[in-house]
Amino acid sequence: MARVILGVAGGIAAYKACEVVRRLRDSGHDVRVVPTANALNFVGATTWEALSGHPVATDVWSGAAEVPHVRLGQQTDLVLVAPATADLLARAAAGRADDLLTNILLTARCPVVMFPAMHTEMWLHAATRANVATLRERGVVVVDPDSGRLTGADSGPGRLPDPVDIRAVAETLLERPALAGAAAARDLAGLRVVVSAGGTQEPLDPVRFLGNHSSGLMGIGIARAARLRGAEVTLVAARMDHEPPSDVEVRRVVSTGDLAEAMQDLAPAADVVIMAAAPADFTAARPAEQKIKKDDQKGLTLDLVQTTDVLATLAAARPAGQTIVGFAAETAKSRADLVALGTAKLARKGADLLVCNDVSGGKVFGDADTAVVIIDRAGIVAECAGSKDVVAHSIVDAVLVDRTRYVRA
Ligand code: CTP
Repeated sequence: MARVILGVAGGIAAYKACEVVRRLRDSGHDVRVVPTANALNFVGATTWEALSGHPVATDVWSGAAEVPHVRLGQQTDLVLVAPATADLLARAAAGRADDLLTNILLTARCPVVMFPAMHTEMWLHAATRANVATLRERGVVVVDPDSGRLTGADSGPGRLPDPVDIRAVAETLLERPALAGAAAARDLAGLRVVVSAGGTQEPLDPVRFLGNHSSGLMGIGIARAARLRGAEVTLVAARMDHEPPSDVEVRRVVSTGDLAEAMQDLAPAADVVIMAAAPADFTAARPAEQKIKKDDQKGLTLDLVQTTDVLATLAAARPAGQTIVGFAAETAKSRADLVALGTAKLARKGADLLVCNDVSGGKVFGDADTAVVIIDRAGIVAECAGSKDVVAHSIVDAVLVDRTRYVRA
């Protein structure tokens, strides 16, 4: 159980923060809500107290004997501000301490992550840009808002991300606080990343398909990690058990053929291509146009043909300077065996990096956690274990190392 302070500033998106409290508490975290006085115009103290199970204060004058303006910031594992308004960003950037939340921002020694939400004009205003840049320079993780419909008729960047994605970022920073540095520095800014996720489905007839157990979580984690670190991300999503992150562009596909087409369309303009999808290796030679009927007592023999190897095709046609990452799902007898199988697969596919995981006994598929060995042509680059979101950051780290080692050389 971690201690989280959720700062809420006075914007209409404050109502979405109720869901953030819920989700963090569902994950077992202790959440204290610290609204600004203006936030209470949108959602009242009673709601925050009931949802968090803690009393709520906005100023530094209540309970002064416990010195809350210093103690709360010192004794928390994460400070999360959602929504952060233009005014809150300005006060934080100026180092003001005129209410409890800004006092906490000055005393916290843990990662601080802010999710701005405001009208597009305010987000794009030079003053806000400068405040965001100042905060990021100081190591505060300021997550770009989503684009989409805002309150009223306008639309553009300024929406608060989905509470599921806010929780995912919070949990990543709780699990690996050091990632706050990379996220604040946005070390992937300027890079276009295309990542595939989920399992493809090959139609047998109008109602049946061949598929696999891929949940899409690894690809979603990579998309989220790359986005958090400033990349422009497109997620090519086959069937997944989870919703894609709210702030990435999504291209939906069904079969391996569709996936190949989408990847071949998007890859030429990408700096980094990551094939986390589990494409079906076989497809029906001739999918039946009518539903296949069962014939009493008889089984069914399917005539299957191999699908395109998307990764190998992309690697063979890669433009100069592009990094291509593949995955290897292996049923290995040992770590050495896993690396040997991965090394052969890396050479066969022509990728720059291969993320190898052992799937013996159905491990990994659908699990929240994973353990991987990342290899390149020279051998093991990194080994990591943890939630798929945290492992996704290690994959991104390996991509950055690969780009300095091979691409720029
Ligand atoms: N892959 C692909 N196209 C396919 C099959 C797999 O692009 N038709 C990609 C996967 O997205 C993954 C990598 O290739 O990045 C390795 O997938 P894996 O299933 O481990 O390997 P296969 O090529 O299917 O080889 P095998 O099943 O023989 O181990």
